[in-house]
Order: sequence, then structure tokens, then C-alpha cells
Amino acid sequence: MAKADHIKKLVASYGRSQDFRAAALRIIDEAAHQGKKPFADSLRKILDANVSPDYQVASQPRLTSLASQVDPSTTLVDEINVSRGLRDIVLSPDTQALIEGIIEERRRSEELRRHRLPLSTRILFAGPPGCGKTLCAEVLARELSLPLFSARIDVIVSSFLGETASNLRRLFDFASRRPCILFLDEFDALARTRADTTEHNELRRVVNSLLHMVERFRGPGLVVAATNLPQFLDEAIWRRFDDVVSFDPPEEREIALLLSRQFANFPVHFDVESMSQKLKGMSYADIERVCFDAIKKAVLKRRKSVSETEFASALRKEMRRKGLTSLVKM
Ligand SMILES: Nc1ncnc2c1ncn2[C@@H]1O[C@H](COP(=O)(O)OP(=O)(O)OP(=O)(O)O)[C@@H](O)[C@H]1O
Ligand SMILES: [Mg+2]
Repeated sequence: MAKADHIKKLVASYGRSQDFRAAALRIIDEAAHQGKKPFADSLRKILDANVSPDYQVASQPRLTSLASQVDPSTTLVDEINVSRGLRDIVLSPDTQALIEGIIEERRRSEELRRHRLPLSTRILFAGPPGCGKTLCAEVLARELSLPLFSARIDVIVSSFLGETASNLRRLFDFASRRPCILFLDEFDALARTRADTTEHNELRRVVNSLLHMVERFRGPGLVVAATNLPQFLDEAIWRRFDDVVSFDPPEEREIALLLSRQFANFPVHFDVESMSQKLKGMSYADIERVCFDAIKKAVLKRRKSVSETEFASALRKEMRRKGLTSLVKM
């Protein structure tokens, strides 16, 4: 039998399809958990056929604030429109395996629950800028058909310190009540080390309550935190995450993959391999910019392929931008 609390929640959510769906999913999970798979499956079919999540209706190519449904006075999250999936991201084999593992686990969650195995619900992405942390949050949302909400750190960290903790509580409540991915970008801004002597005592308490909230978060969706300053994170934060995924700058293999994708619809007339050597040390975002720039130059010259001259000139532009011109010999 479904728990009385779950049934109460279901009835109380009448008229709010997203909450209704979340409550119904809890009952389905519970039934699957108790070994009543045919019942769970048939409920799931009925639910999918009749109750579409609000976000499927609402999601438009714009930023939508759904936080107003929780508290009309404050906007704690932005909904990010999601379009890119696994085939749009290039990852090292290790990182790829971790991400595919997270997706597989979610897709087969009922099997795992049947064995009473906990699901990963808290994931930390760490790595330098432009290496795919935000993109990967989008990829997870797309692959798992979940809406992606990005927390507005600027709004959450209030100048009134007491409010920061209560904003965080509302944020986690929000994510606990609907299947979604809550993305905490610039996580270091929230979870700076408590040992930092420049911080106020009250801020340490905020970090403590954040640790507590991350620790207690059990879904229904995922919390994905991202940082490019992992060295500033409080030591205790690491073990609160089920998975820590590192996003490194591309090596030779990944550069070649990225180039082949970027130039998939626009052939090149030069030796890509020798050019890839010159891209070492750049981020994916930098390399993407070089490719776009080279293609743009070719298009403006009304050419159907990119020549070495265009690519080299786009690369020089990027190097100048980074103040590294002297390092490139072309
Ligand atoms: N691994 C990747 N594979 C393919 N494209 C990538 C990858 N990483 C970055 N890009 C491209 O660069 C853009 C910017 O990357 P993204 O925003 O994911 O970086 P980030 O790691 O979140 O950086 P930051 O730390 O500055 O937030 C992406 O939207 C994508 O177009
Ligand atoms: Mg980012």
C-alpha cells in the first residue's frame, strides 16, 4: 500500500500537474520498491499518458522563472532552455564513462531501488572555464528529460546574512518537490572554506547549513554543483557529493573529435592533425570560437570549405585575445 503521506500529498496537489506528477511518482516508486512492478508499471503508463509535467508545456526558448510558484516575491532560479544532448559534448573517456553511468543509473532507477540501492542525487563538476560543466548540466537534463533550473546565486546570497540560509532552504525545498536538475553554478561562491579567516561567523553558519542541505538532498531529481575554483571549496563539501566529475582541457584525442564535429558540415582543406597541435592548452570553448571564426571567414569569402589561411588567421586572433601571440609560430 502507498504511504498515507504520499496519498495526502497526491490529493493536496490537485490542479497542479507538476506537483501531482511528483506525488504520483513517489507512489509508483513505493510500489516498485515493494515488488509490485506490474502495478507500478501500469500506474506509470497512466501517469505518462495523462499528466504531462508543466515544464513540457512551459518550456520555451527563454528564461522562465518558476520560482515564483514557490514564493512570488523572490526569483531564486532561472529555467534554462535545453537543446544539446550527449552527442553534442566531447569528453575524455573517463569523464564520459562517469556521465553515462549517471544517466544509466537514472534511467534504470526502479531496478536499483528494488535492490534498495541509493541513487546518486548530488554531483559536483570541477574544472577550468570553458570545458563543459554548464554544457554537461544541459546534456544531463536533455538525456533524462528533466527541466534544468539554475540557481541565482546573486539573489540567494543576500546582504542580510540571515536570509541567505532561508533562501537556500527554499531553493532545496523547490528542488525536492519536483523532478528536475538544480544547477548550482559558481558553487565556490556559496561553499567557501569555513576556515577562511576573512569570513564572518555568520557566513560559516551558512556554509554549514549548505553542507547539511546537500547531504540531506535525496531527489526526486539531481543537484549538480559546478566550480572552476575547487581549491576554495570547504574540505567537508567533497564527501557530501555522490560523484565528483572533473572537466579538463581537451587532449589530442578530444581536440580531434571537437574539430571533426565543428567541421562536420564544412569541409577543411588543410592538415587538421598538424593544426590540432597548435590548439593544445586551449579550452573547448576557445577551440570552438576558433572554428566558428574560421568558418565565418570562409562563408564571407563565399567559399565552400575552410582553408589553412582562414584557420591560421582565426587562431592568431584567438591567441591575440589571450595575449599569447608570441607562443605561436605559424
Ligand atoms: N566538452 C565540450 N564539448 C563540446 N563543446 C564544449 C565543451 N566544453 C565547452 N564547450 C563549448 O563551449 C561552451 C562554453 O562551455 P561551458 O559553459 O560548458 O563551460 P564551463 O565549464 O561551464 O565554464 P565556466 O567555468 O566558465 O562556467 C559550451 O556551450 C560549448 O559550446
Ligand atoms: Mg559554466
